Amino acid sequence: MNRNFQKDIDLGLSATNKTLPSKYFYDEIGDALFVEIMNMPEYYLTNAELEIFKNQTQELINALQLHKTPFFKLVELGAGDGTKTKQLLKALDHQDYNFRYVPIDISENALKHLKVSINQELPTVKINPKQGDYFNVLADLKASEYSIIVLFLGSNIGNLSDEKAKELISKLNDNLKTGDKIVLGVDLIKPKSIVLPAYNDAQGITKRFNLNLLTRINNELEADFETDTFEHKPEYDEEEGIARSFLVSKKDQIITIKSLDKTFRFKKGEKIHMETSRKYNDQILNGILAHSSLKIMDRLTDSQNLFADYILEKC
Ligand code: AVJ
Repeated sequence: MNRNFQKDIDLGLSATNKTLPSKYFYDEIGDALFVEIMNMPEYYLTNAELEIFKNQTQELINALQLHKTPFFKLVELGAGDGTKTKQLLKALDHQDYNFRYVPIDISENALKHLKVSINQELPTVKINPKQGDYFNVLADLKASEYSIIVLFLGSNIGNLSDEKAKELISKLNDNLKTGDKIVLGVDLIKPKSIVLPAYNDAQGITKRFNLNLLTRINNELEADFETDTFEHKPEYDEEEGIARSFLVSKKDQIITIKSLDKTFRFKKGEKIHMETSRKYNDQILNGILAHSSLKIMDRLTDSQNLFADYILEKC
């Protein structure tokens, strides 16, 4: 059993405002549910970014100011199933760029599938997957003598509070060399009528995605959550541009987590904050970059202006 998982769950449920870290959504079932989320009609993010990678591949390569030689590393943080990245990999491979693809993901399972599919679809692309929390794996980059392009797509940064996003950016900044670049994919601030349904789909997949973490806690920490005693409640504040998902207890209840030898009391209506999904614009991103030497060099958006891939350069 994972000690960090145990500690983080204990910490989150012991807080006055209960919370659970969304990074733990991604076990095997969570990975599969997230694939379903990406295919939902309401979840516009994935298709919007895929459109950028499909229709503006050459613009992306140009914006990155890549050269065919010397060798560089394309490092992806939170690679997932790699659908978008494959568009770029294919173009780079066909144009004989000299690079290696290094996907980093917390999910061993997702990396295993990604490696198999890249080997099948793009057999000449060199791939070297690394499993881990990307905060920790970043330090390895510093040792590299090669230039690095970091891909951080899918608005994965949106799961971080602004404070945590600044920390991650500062880590990236410390571990990159002058001229290294980042492709940062972010969901753009937009009306509630578009954002909220993406986290409150008609089929209830997002609800299952959130409840699956309670099931994971049941299985891995010997807890007794009854998932049907919690309601899924997403919120979106258009002013600040942040979506938040909560699970709300439908009744007064006491949950036992055996492996912690502890009980946790829930009042009827009490919420667990499950996930933050921040939306961005230039101003918010510049605020996050403020104390780093990373600068916005370019920005590609989809035809509906839902999503942006920012090109950042370490100056
Ligand atoms: C993978 C973090 C971008 O916040 O939109 C999707 C995860 N959560 N539906 C997001 C998610 C609920 C997603 N990110």
